[in-house]
Amino acid sequence: MPEPLDAALSEVRALLLDPALTRAVAAGRRRGQRPSVVRAELRPVTLKGGPRLQISTSDGARPYTRNVAPGAEADGAVDALLAEPFGNWHVETADSTLQLRVTKSGEAQVHRAAASRPAPEPGGHDRAKDWLLDPGDPIFAEIGGSAAKRRQVDAFLRALAATLPDDLSGPLRVVDLGCGNAYLTFAAHRYLTRRGLDVTLVGVDVREDQRRRNTELAERLGWADRVSFVAGTIADARVEPAPDLVLALHACDTATDEALARAVRWDARWVLAAPCCHHDVAAQLRARPAPAPYELLTRQGILRERFADVLTDALRAGLLRLHGYRAEVVEFVDSRHTPRNLLIRARRTGSAPADDQRAEYRELVDRWGITPRLETLLAGRP
Ligand SMILES: C[S@@+](CC[C@H](N)C(=O)[O-])C[C@H]1O[C@@H](n2cnc3c(N)ncnc32)[C@H](O)[C@@H]1O
Repeated sequence: MPEPLDAALSEVRALLLDPALTRAVAAGRRRGQRPSVVRAELRPVTLKGGPRLQISTSDGARPYTRNVAPGAEADGAVDALLAEPFGNWHVETADSTLQLRVTKSGEAQVHRAAASRPAPEPGGHDRAKDWLLDPGDPIFAEIGGSAAKRRQVDAFLRALAATLPDDLSGPLRVVDLGCGNAYLTFAAHRYLTRRGLDVTLVGVDVREDQRRRNTELAERLGWADRVSFVAGTIADARVEPAPDLVLALHACDTATDEALARAVRWDARWVLAAPCCHHDVAAQLRARPAPAPYELLTRQGILRERFADVLTDALRAGLLRLHGYRAEVVEFVDSRHTPRNLLIRARRTGSAPADDQRAEYRELVDRWGITPRLETLLAGRP
């Protein structure tokens, strides 16, 4: 239900000047008007001289940051920003989130949500220190997701934290392939910007409805200039410039192979892919007898499927190694949060593979008479 704009902006003003403010972003523009800056971000900081409100604005090319003292200086700076014809305000405090969108008729469409903490897990402790991202962070009220998905994503980000070098700086371009409802995309943005990185993210999913929904969510969060979405296949969706970091959480079946192949083609520096179901190698194993003396591994259906899972991910890691990556397969989250709890984590080294590594891979696939999808996708690459 639209509300009068002045009253809604007064509410925004009170939150911006509230000591409980966590972060706020103004972006977009009102119909027929253009603010003097493309985006403004406000957050509280503590300097030697005491608490300040940090205001970062961007003219689209360069950022400008200043720290204003509470009182008249902060009041004046906030009033000046509220007078700009921004189309959206997103304000987070310790207790709540408020999103304001100015409608075409100049009214305010306001969405208010309380910061929510997930219920503690049965039989378990749920302390803040168990999480990389605070579960009370207001973004979770926006992006939703089940408790299990929240755990998976937090654990995935922990693995990411352990992968990126501590002294990483400069712009970081990230893509989330098979992003679905973009829970990981948004959480990764939150984590990486908290680390002080200048990050841009693109989420790719074949579903156009997901692209629309996720784009609207990015706008509501005030992140649309940093987080964008493309509807297309992992194999050929347009993502420019090429990303430094490729993420894929539970991209179905061979979509994980597409994600790994795309990462290699992009020469991505880091790749984190948690595979989902594995059907490709399992079907190939079913279609022919196992080489002697390994029939016992594949005679029972369930054993054949589990063996196919292991073989698939071992061969994926092996292929990454042949294409200039150091790759490892780790368990990234407890299996009670998802049975799909393996993560292929790879870092580009650019090293050419040794002959014995090539031979080891070839012997394994020839022996079993299989051609993994990733091998086909990478065919023709040195
Ligand atoms: C199981 S969901 C996982 C979504 C999300 N990453 C998560 O963990 O919540 C897999 C997603 O991958 C998308 N997908 C599957 N194959 C794809 C392909 N070849 N190209 C692009 N998206 C694909 C599906 O539409 C779906 O949204």
